[in-house]
Amino acid sequence: MNHDDPRNGVVSDNNNNNNHHTSKKPKLTRPISEPEIRNEFSHHQHGIARINNGSFCSCPRSVLTAHNNWLLRFLQQPDDFYFNTLRTGILHSRALIKTLINADAIDDVSLVDNATTAAAVVLQHVGRRFGRGEFRRNDSVIIFHCAYQAVKKSIQAYVTSVGGSVIEVRLPFPVRCNEEIIEEFRKGLERGRENGGRVRLAILDHITSMPSVVVPVKELIQICRENGVEQVFVDGAHAIGSLRIDVNEIGADFYVSNLYKWFFSPPSVAFLYCRDSRSLRDVHHPVVSHEYGNGLPVESAWVGARDYSPQLVVPAIFDFVDRFEGGIEGIMKRNHDEVVKMGTMLAESWGTNLGSPPEMCASMIMVGLPSRIGVTSDDDALRLRSHLRGYHGVEVPVYYQGVRDGDVDPRDKDGYITGYVRISHQVYNAVEDYLKLKNAINQLLGEGKTCNMLPK
Ligand SMILES: Cc1ncc(COP(=O)(O)O)c(C=O)c1O
Repeated sequence: MNHDDPRNGVVSDNNNNNNHHTSKKPKLTRPISEPEIRNEFSHHQHGIARINNGSFCSCPRSVLTAHNNWLLRFLQQPDDFYFNTLRTGILHSRALIKTLINADAIDDVSLVDNATTAAAVVLQHVGRRFGRGEFRRNDSVIIFHCAYQAVKKSIQAYVTSVGGSVIEVRLPFPVRCNEEIIEEFRKGLERGRENGGRVRLAILDHITSMPSVVVPVKELIQICRENGVEQVFVDGAHAIGSLRIDVNEIGADFYVSNLYKWFFSPPSVAFLYCRDSRSLRDVHHPVVSHEYGNGLPVESAWVGARDYSPQLVVPAIFDFVDRFEGGIEGIMKRNHDEVVKMGTMLAESWGTNLGSPPEMCASMIMVGLPSRIGVTSDDDALRLRSHLRGYHGVEVPVYYQGVRDGDVDPRDKDGYITGYVRISHQVYNAVEDYLKLKNAINQLLGEGKTCNMLPK
């Protein structure tokens, strides 16, 4: 990184100028009230039970205002903003994230658009190593079968196209404990050693998207190290703001998390942590611009002319979360407790099960749908989701998982459970949102309707 360039700013690694967001927080005199929370999210469309925070986020009004103010500052005097404000602002955001995730250095933290961009950074890096002959044909990348589709496509584009192969590990679901996941992962690593190949990269979701489960990444990384896996990339797209992240404790080489999902940023910004970035060679932003070669954080801070305000609002996000009792930790705990409570209430009403024990979920949980509703394909799942949105004002993703040979559970009183909803809980949610979902499903059952009777 070019430290002599004045645009790179002056925030030091020991973070002196943002203490008010870290160790020396002033004591909260009055936590944010319910009406104030409602006001912060009053731009949400009324009448919709939004229990899908996991997909497309939520950004409070005060952060949107900060976002708009940054954009205005840029538009008022773009040249001055570019030379004197932009980079220092981004550096300040990176310093705050660095402290929150316990990274060793600000240079280990870059701000990129989203998890997909971070996947491109990491997988292009790995692809180039295949291209240079450092990795060989039988060498592989190991992932869970339910890794995010964009990440799988990135492997296809950047790694398998240059001779690498992929090992998919089936994530047990419904899952009862971490050991079930660990056992499957170990088997995957064994497969990776067949034909004399080496596993070069493990991509581990911290919270899988669909079905959604918290994965024991720290334990899996330990196993990766014991088994000679060269690098580990944790896809924590859903993590920041819903799970405590300590990158030192976790021990991955790369860790990404979207700030827009559970950390209240506008779309779109994510942090990408690179362990010991100063010694990492050949890690670049996929969009090459003027700063190519000056280190990933600086490359990422200028990828051509565009709106950089999402990267600049991080201090405003810290101000927002600090208005809640316990700050972001308090928010995470309450969301977790509530989503488990709501999931349990739904499962009891429908006579079904949760997809994981509470300790294997953060702010999202999978809840089994009654078998009588007849989710028998991905198409059925989509129909039910559209129906819930269109006719009941409920926004929730629906997941289909077919019965496999040898399955004896999960069952309810009528048959196999093959459909699940993934419910989220964020600070703006209320019990009524989940009751709306419960009643919608119960109404469909009462009318004897199954998914295949719903309009396409
Ligand atoms: C596990 C996981 N990885 C990656 C992504 C991609 O995130 P983005 O669309 O912000 O790039 C998502 C999005 O939901 C996700 O759930």
